[in-house]
Amino acid sequence: MRITLIRPDDWHLHLRDGEALAAVLQHTAERFGRAIVMPNLKPPITTVAAAAAYRERILGARPDGSRFEPLMTLYLTDNTPAAEIAAAKKCGFVHAVKYYPAGATTNSDSGVTDWKKARAALSAMEQHDIPLLLHGEVTDADVDVFDRERVFLERNLTPLQRDFPGLRIVLEHVTTKDAVDFVKAAGPRMAATITAHHLLWNRNAIFQGGIRPHAYCLPVLKREEHRKALVAAATGGDSQFFLGTDSAPHARHTKETTCGCAGIYTSHAGIELYAEAFDNAGALDKLESFASLRGPKFYGLPVNKDRITIEKATTPVPAELPFGAHTLVPMRAGETVGWRIVG
Ligand code: NCD
Ligand code: ZN
Ligand code: ZN
Repeated sequence: MRITLIRPDDWHLHLRDGEALAAVLQHTAERFGRAIVMPNLKPPITTVAAAAAYRERILGARPDGSRFEPLMTLYLTDNTPAAEIAAAKKCGFVHAVKYYPAGATTNSDSGVTDWKKARAALSAMEQHDIPLLLHGEVTDADVDVFDRERVFLERNLTPLQRDFPGLRIVLEHVTTKDAVDFVKAAGPRMAATITAHHLLWNRNAIFQGGIRPHAYCLPVLKREEHRKALVAAATGGDSQFFLGTDSAPHARHTKETTCGCAGIYTSHAGIELYAEAFDNAGALDKLESFASLRGPKFYGLPVNKDRITIEKATTPVPAELPFGAHTLVPMRAGETVGWRIVG
C-alpha cells in the first residue's frame, strides 16, 4: 500500500549545533518541508541576532539541493525584553518563543523561574501575535514526575491564560488525557503537538525487561489510557492537534549512564512512525491533516507545494547512527518500522 501526502512539517524539533546538527539534519530534510527549531542550545538562543546566526548554520548544513526551511524560535528567560519580541516579529524568520520552566528538561537552566517575571515579554507576544510554545511541566520536587504535566495545567497555564487571553499558545509534546481535554476546552487560540513515540509507546516501554534509557524522554511516557487519548486527538477531527516529533538527539554514552539525558531520536523515521500509529488506529486518511495541514494553519503559513509518497513495508532501523565523534541510538534501533519513503 502507498499513500501520497502534501509534504509534512515538523512543528517541534531539536537540531542541536555543529557536528550534531550536520549528522541529523538530513533525516528531517528528507521528509519535512519546514520545522520549528527549538532554541535550547548551550548557550540558549535568546536573541534575534543569535537566531539569525543559528538559522544560517542550519541552512549551511542542509544536504545539496535541499529546500528545507528552518522556522526559528527564541528561548524565553525571566529577563527577555519586550523590544526583543518586537524585533522577533519584525525579522520574519522567528515564528515563536519557547518557555522552558527552569530545570524542567534538557538545557533549561536559563529558563523561566516564574512566568510572572516574564510579563513584559508575554504581553509583547500577545500584542504582536507571536505564539508561546510551552514545555508544560512543573518542576516542584514534591510533585510526582508522572503528574508534572497535569499539575502545570492547573498551577501555571490556567492563570497565564487568564492574564494573557489574546496570547496564542502551543502546549508542546502533550502526554496526558488531561492536556488533550485542556487544549480542547481552551479553543482555537491553543494548540498542541504530539510526538510519534507518545502515540506508539506507553510507560511500560521504559521498563521492558530492564531499564531502557532510549525510551526516556520528558515529559516521561505515561499510562496506556493517556496514549489512547493522544491517538484519539491526533486522528480526530480537531485542528488543534498537529505533528511535532520532539526528535531529541543525544550521544549514546550520555543516555547509557548513571544519570541519562532525556530525549528520544525519531527523525530517521519522522513520518514513517506516525504512519504506523495512524495505520494501527485505522486512520491513515487523517494523517495528511495532522502532518501537513493543521500546523501551517495555526502558524499562518501556506501549506507545502510538493508531496511525498510513503509505502507500507517492513524497513530495518540501524542499531546506531553516526553523531559527530559519537553515535546515537534511534527509536526502534536494531528493529524495524512499518513504512518507508518512496518519493
Ligand atoms: C528535549 C531535548 O533533549 O532537548 N528532551 C526531551 O526529552 N524531550 C527537551 C524537551 O523537549 O523537553
Ligand atoms: Zn520539552
Ligand atoms: Zn523538545
